[in-house]
Amino acid sequence: LSDIIHTQADHADFGGVVPEIAARAHVEKADQVVARALDEAGMARADAPLDAVAATAGPGLIGGVMVGMMTGKAIAMARGIPFLPVNHLEGHALSARLAEPIDFPYLLLLVSGGHTQLLRVEGLGRYARLGTTIDDAAGEAFDKTAKLLGLGQPGGPKVQAAAEHGDAARFSFPRPLLKREGCDFSFSGLKTAVRVAATDALGADGTLDEQTRCDLAAGFQRAAANHLAARTERAMMAMRLPVGDQGRLVVAGGVAANTEIRRLLTALAETHGWRLLVPPPKYCTDNGAMIALVGAERFAAGLVDPLAETLALAPRARWPLDDNPDGKRHGGGKKGPKA
Ligand code: KG4
Ligand code: ZN
Repeated sequence: LSDIIHTQADHADFGGVVPEIAARAHVEKADQVVARALDEAGMARADAPLDAVAATAGPGLIGGVMVGMMTGKAIAMARGIPFLPVNHLEGHALSARLAEPIDFPYLLLLVSGGHTQLLRVEGLGRYARLGTTIDDAAGEAFDKTAKLLGLGQPGGPKVQAAAEHGDAARFSFPRPLLKREGCDFSFSGLKTAVRVAATDALGADGTLDEQTRCDLAAGFQRAAANHLAARTERAMMAMRLPVGDQGRLVVAGGVAANTEIRRLLTALAETHGWRLLVPPPKYCTDNGAMIALVGAERFAAGLVDPLAETLALAPRARWPLDDNPDGKRHGGGKKGPKA
């Protein structure tokens, strides 16, 4: 009914998200965002037919999660309706279905600034993590590379733009985890290789010339895209689909916007006869609609706890998606179980 997003731009000067600034911005903006959302949806009146409130309960920077969860709980309590704590990653896992119906199971490649994961999505509350990054997230690697090459932020689009003028073959970077089984990712070795190559390529005046920066960006982008495609191909095999069932690969997260990555994944899907689904950016980057979708589906499936119980739940900085496969709420403990 409505989908309001407030994006914080105040972090750019610091070269990354500052947790304290993020938490304060949530305090300042949450009420306004909620008011606009209720207004646009025609749900602002106290007697409006609002059935339940869903909010992200983790994982993520804890200050912002606390503010969002507290705001959601307050609305639920004031209206006497259920509160549904939602795993942020579950929102990403299902968000492509905001754009079009997709049959289960499907393979999700989630690539953003915070996550790099391959998930087998079997249905609401049923996810198996096939692979995850053992160090940096893909978007983080793009952002750090942009910083290293002095390309500015946001890193991903800047690296892509520089790469368009670069020669990807000039520098050859290592292919991460080539000999390692499974579908995990690693980007830190690649990052180091770019730094070493950039240092070696410094001119007499101690700076990188324009063409070299573009070549380094292109080489990094090619290697990162190859790595993502190689691990995704392994995960496609690990899905073990019945013969005759056409596989579905959904790509979500900000990094999914990258043209080189899309090109390789399109080729991969074609080779194996899979369908590739890339939802519009507004659904695959962070948004409230995907949390509402999970909340609505859980509510419809009766996965609702008594209000008093959910109000007592604490936000979680860490919350792997596959530790509650039966869709039950997470356990207690002062801060909640960590891993
Ligand atoms: O999903 P997202 O909007 O936010 C979260 O991380 O939650 O993803 C942002 C990330 C950033 O690291 C950004 O540099 C990266 O996505 N990104 C890209 C591109 N556009 C955004 N990375 C590579 N190529 C792009 N065209
Ligand atoms: Zn996210």
